[in-house]
Amino acid sequence: MRVVKTGADLRQVLDEYTAAGCRRVLVPTMGALHHGHLELVRHARMTAGPGGTVIVSIFVNPIQFDRANDLDAYPRPVESDLEKCLAAAVDVVFLPEVAAMYHADRSVTVAESLLSKGLCGASRPGHFDGVCTVVLKLFLLSGCDAAVFGEKDFQQLAIIRRMVRDLDVPVEILECPTVRESDGLAMSSRNVRLNARQRADAPRIHRALAAAGKLAHADEILAAARAEIEASPFARIDYLELVDAQTLQPVTDLHQPAVLAAAVFYGEVRLIDHVAVPARKPPHTTTHAMSCD
Ligand code: PAJ
Repeated sequence: MRVVKTGADLRQVLDEYTAAGCRRVLVPTMGALHHGHLELVRHARMTAGPGGTVIVSIFVNPIQFDRANDLDAYPRPVESDLEKCLAAAVDVVFLPEVAAMYHADRSVTVAESLLSKGLCGASRPGHFDGVCTVVLKLFLLSGCDAAVFGEKDFQQLAIIRRMVRDLDVPVEILECPTVRESDGLAMSSRNVRLNARQRADAPRIHRALAAAGKLAHADEILAAARAEIEASPFARIDYLELVDAQTLQPVTDLHQPAVLAAAVFYGEVRLIDHVAVPARKPPHTTTHAMSCD
């Protein structure tokens, strides 16, 4: 496994590595790798095949953080991340410093203007522009054929798919389902920042969404999920929304597939989760013959 720190080194190493006709598959991460990330790597390894190249990028991207304390507190266990990459048969780890990724006077960003407006985009202004910008740079620096993302961050995934579509980026986007702890909490690099009581309470987010998502009507789904999360002495809802699965716009009925999504603060730590809410069949309607007399 090679570890490289600059775009120039990455290109050189990848030119040596990738055999003709084999695929380069990228897994972009911010490190503090857990089983969720490693599932993405496993998927990348399968997609790349034995002759292909799996690249993991580890970069805590400052321009996607809206709160300085969240950026500073983001865990950076580099040595154990590299051990996990080695064990997962990663070929190349791209581990740049901030200065290797961004010029001090940089002035171009990628901006998505529709799917990024609500949910995490509403409570974290500029976040998805930062994500799109770094992901496009990572695609260009690695020259990858495919890249793997987690369904856990479903808004991020939808926005990256949109970016690739709208800008004709020649990268296939692959996705992996959310990996959870045994108590249902979605794995996240931020979970290690929860104290013991917050950690014990946090599975309530998924429990609330999963149970409420089975109810029949949009209003009762939102009310039930809110009640369960607000019953916690620690949790503070940032948002709780039912949105259309395609447009990510809020919905008030279930005529189309929807997503019930939440962001919840435990102290300073913000956790996100969601469940799919399938479209409900309209109630059976009988047509009465019109009588004209
Ligand atoms: P990060 O939070 O490190 O996540 C990296 C990738 O792992 C993302 O595609 C995310 O959806 C996926 N992932 C995280 N937790 C997961 C889980 N429990 N199950 C399945 N997949 C999971 O997302 C980012 O970094 C950044 O925004 C990035 C795309 C790297 C751009 O900076």
